[in-house]
Amino acid sequence: MSSRDSSEEPEDEGRRTFLKFLGALGVAAVSVGVLRGAVQNIIPRVQGSSSSGYPTLQLVLSSGSPVKTSDLVVNNPKIVLFNYPLLSDPNFLLRLGDSSNRDVAIDPATVKIPETGKTFTSPGGVGPYRSVVASSAICEHLGCKPPQLRFHPPSDSSFPGKLHCDCHGSTYDPYRGFAVVTGPTHKPQPNIVLKYDSSADTYSVVSMVGPTIFGQPSNLSGGTPFPSGAKSTTVTIQEAA
Ligand code: FES
Repeated sequence: MSSRDSSEEPEDEGRRTFLKFLGALGVAAVSVGVLRGAVQNIIPRVQGSSSSGYPTLQLVLSSGSPVKTSDLVVNNPKIVLFNYPLLSDPNFLLRLGDSSNRDVAIDPATVKIPETGKTFTSPGGVGPYRSVVASSAICEHLGCKPPQLRFHPPSDSSFPGKLHCDCHGSTYDPYRGFAVVTGPTHKPQPNIVLKYDSSADTYSVVSMVGPTIFGQPSNLSGGTPFPSGAKSTTVTIQEAA
């Protein structure tokens, strides 16, 4: 072997390694593209859904008319519910007020998930007074539903202005992103993201933030989906007691 040959060997080896590295990068990029395409084909996009996969549904009354602000009672002691993002998922619809039943504007808040120490930003209120909020109506502790879990108006002497679950005593603050006030729950209630159309005075549900709905592998699986092409979800009202 000549002295010239021996001096070129490390360079050749380095070039080969570099070319192998580029080749591996190319294979990885192609694989990611193929995988993404495959996953998009496996998971069907819900009709009228956002890019996150959540359907956009207008809130309507049982008559089929869109819910207007005047249909929502401030601090309603009755239980106002609608289903989302699956047909089998009940949620509270609340128009929050102070102890004199005047609307309270709800700001977005940083909400802690005690179980993980992580946080999320709650969406805040919508509507002309920014007082309308919504959350899952399935308790994040062990899954109790209304009427065991319900909103207590600010005038209530036992749990004023709180979501309280009679099953084991968990309490949540709807004025601050349904954050945990008292356990045994270690998770806030999942928040519903609402959208208000001020020109039509109508409300839609567009997505969710916070922990996953209790008992489901994800918010979009583990229950009964809306029929394909659904455009609305119906608000129902039931007595608290
Ligand atoms: S299920 Fe609500 S506190 Fe246990």
